Amino acid sequence: MNKLWGGRFGKKTDRMVEEFTSSLPFDRRLYRYDIEGSMAHCRMLRKQGFLSAREEKKILSALGDIRRRVESGKFAFDPADEDIHLAVEKALIRKTGSAGEKIHTGRSRNDQVALDIRLFLRDEVKEVLRLTGELKSAILRKAKAEIDTVMPGYTHLQKAQPVLLSHCLLAYREMFDRDEARLKECLERINVMPLGSAALAGAGLPLDRNYVAKLLKFPRLSANSMDAVSDRDFVAEFIFDAGLLMMHMSRLCEDLILWASDEFGFVEISDAFTTGSSIMPQKKNPDVAELIRGKTGRVYGNLVSVLTVLKGLPMTYNRDLQEDKEPLFDTVDTVKASLAVLTAMIGNLTFRREKMKEAASGGYSTATDIADYLVRKGVPFRRAHAVTGKIVGVCLKKGRNFSDLSLAEFRKFHPAFEKDIFRVITVESSVSARQGPGGTSKKQVVKRIRDIESQGKK
Ligand code: ARG
Repeated sequence: MNKLWGGRFGKKTDRMVEEFTSSLPFDRRLYRYDIEGSMAHCRMLRKQGFLSAREEKKILSALGDIRRRVESGKFAFDPADEDIHLAVEKALIRKTGSAGEKIHTGRSRNDQVALDIRLFLRDEVKEVLRLTGELKSAILRKAKAEIDTVMPGYTHLQKAQPVLLSHCLLAYREMFDRDEARLKECLERINVMPLGSAALAGAGLPLDRNYVAKLLKFPRLSANSMDAVSDRDFVAEFIFDAGLLMMHMSRLCEDLILWASDEFGFVEISDAFTTGSSIMPQKKNPDVAELIRGKTGRVYGNLVSVLTVLKGLPMTYNRDLQEDKEPLFDTVDTVKASLAVLTAMIGNLTFRREKMKEAASGGYSTATDIADYLVRKGVPFRRAHAVTGKIVGVCLKKGRNFSDLSLAEFRKFHPAFEKDIFRVITVESSVSARQGPGGTSKKQVVKRIRDIESQGKK
């Protein structure tokens, strides 16, 4: 069969051009959505009187058959077919003759491809949301299991103040919560029905766009045909959202990588989620976490690709838009795989509670609590800060901890110190002092867990 658009051409397409312009090697993965869209378009054409009942039946059953053949690997994709849209249409015409020749009535590949991507992405975003939900649940389970585990909190990667491990884990959960909210909003902008925009100006035949939208479960129609065929902002938006999600996963992975090092020794990643070295027999490496961190870069790259493709396009459809697909597909695959493996890995972490607590008490991590103590005794904070700084300086010089000091020694720094200072400088007391909303005290963390759980039940 010749090219479906071959009428005005006098020469065969150069082989090199065929290869260069073809998107079939990658857009064939849209086959299901292309067929679904054609089925809805076909039913609408019948309703509007462009197809007979017999033709409609023939087309629907042939499309179903094509879908089954693609699914079972029996569909013979012809590299000369250019893209999935022409491949399906050609197969349909081969099967149904003149009935199939009517399927493209009032339609262009420009609105067809816009529809396919929206259908595809709508499904995929829902799957990404499901996986993000699983990740959040895995984090919540760990946070509950570690509700009494104290660890050092860091700023500048220097020991700062003791925190609950569960507070730190739930911090990541908050990030994933926002990622989820962003994706849900993005879904609303994806969920818009472009068919009926035709090439760019809208269809010249009386189509029923609302009927197609209803069949395909779209709550809204695109409002402008030129916009509908030419923009892919929803693709860029999704990749951005996925990029932030990857960034958050990457940060969590970076923490796990650090914590799993011998120097930190805070966590043991299960053997099943680590790999070994081909030369060093003793090694156990956190490659999964490293790969998630690394793959984050791919997704950023995909975002830049798509934004760059879009930025100089004159109205309306331009073939450059075909370049949206590979970055989009790669992003979907990368983010889904990363979410699944990270969720499983989190379930397989063993935290070294003693080691974490020991580390939390080092580095004068309760110095702020000493300053706060003095403030409670009426000392202005700046002065309390300076006094505590001096204590740290002396302890450092003498290689001592706060708890090694006697009350008399404390009082040499400031007369406001009393016996109760020794309770204040423990990590437990430091943590439980953070009583305000959003703080790391057990009371607040438990409250947050309860809030999360009751939200889930709503
Ligand atoms: N494969 C094309 C794409 O992905 C489909 C649309 C082609 N339209 C056209 N007028 N050449 O964008």
